[in-house]
Amino acid sequence: MTRVSHDPFDPQRLAQRLKGLALGHPLYYFETMDSTNGFLRALPAEQFRTGALALADHQTKGHGRFDRRWCDAPGQSLLFSILFEAGEPPSRWSLVTLGAAVSVCRTLERHGIAEPRIRWPNDVLVGDRKVCGILTEKGPTPTTLVLGVGLNVHQRTEDFPPALRQSAGSLRLAAERPWNREDLLVAFLTDFQTVYRQWQEGQDAAILGDCRQRMSTLGRPVYFHSHGRRVEGVVMDLDLDGSLVLREPTGIVSRWHSGEVEEIRWSFES
Ligand code: BTN
Repeated sequence: MTRVSHDPFDPQRLAQRLKGLALGHPLYYFETMDSTNGFLRALPAEQFRTGALALADHQTKGHGRFDRRWCDAPGQSLLFSILFEAGEPPSRWSLVTLGAAVSVCRTLERHGIAEPRIRWPNDVLVGDRKVCGILTEKGPTPTTLVLGVGLNVHQRTEDFPPALRQSAGSLRLAAERPWNREDLLVAFLTDFQTVYRQWQEGQDAAILGDCRQRMSTLGRPVYFHSHGRRVEGVVMDLDLDGSLVLREPTGIVSRWHSGEVEEIRWSFES
C-alpha cells in the first residue's frame, strides 16, 4: 500500500504538546494498529488510565457502528481513541458521543470550515458529506468507556471506495489547503476536555444546547432507520438523555435511543 506522508506524526513532539491537557496521557502511538478502540478495550486493568490516548496512522480493522468497517489508507486520516472512567449510569453515555461531535465541529470551525453539522448521533458532515464518525464502546472494565474518532483529512474522491464517493468527504475536499493532523488532534482534545468536564459535572443541558445548534436535521423531515424498521418523521428535538425526538405523520411523538437518520430530499425534476 502506498504510504502518503503529508504530515507524519511525531509521537514525542505530540506528547510534549499534550502535556498541559487533562486528556491524552499516556499516548500510545502506532504506525499500524488493527483498531485503536480495540487496543484500549483490551488494555489490562493495571494499565488503565483515564485520558489514555491511542493514535494510529493506519488501522487494518477499524470499525464503526453496526459492525461496519471503517477503512483508511496510511497517512490520510486522524484515527484515535480515548479511554475514560464513565462512572455514570449508561443512560448518560450517549451524551459523550454527542459532546465529542460538538468538539469535532468546533475544531473544524476553528480551522476555517464553515458550518460543520452533526448527523445524529455520531457523524459530522461538511456540506452533505460525512467527514467524521465517532464510536463509543464499553471499555476494559464495566464502568469505563472508549471513545473513538475517525476524521478523513487528506483523502481525494478517488481514495474512497466507489460506493462511498457520493457521500464521504474529507477536510482536503472541503478546503484545499495544508492540513495537519496533530494540530487537529490537539484542538479537539483542548475542546473536548471542557465538554468532558461538563459531562462529569452533569451540565447535560449545555452539551445538548451546543449539539442542537449544529444538528443537520432539526425541524426537517427524515427517514429514521432502527432495527430493520424505517420510520418517517420530522426531527423535533433532542431529549434530555440525547435521544432523538420524532413527530411521525400520524402525530405520534416517538423517542429513539439508537438508529440512523436519513434526510429526506425532495427532487422536483420533471
Ligand atoms: C461510524 O461512523 O460508524 C464510527 C466510526 C468510528 C471510527 C473510529 S477510527 C478510530 C476508532 N477505532 C475504530 O476501530 N473505530 C474508531
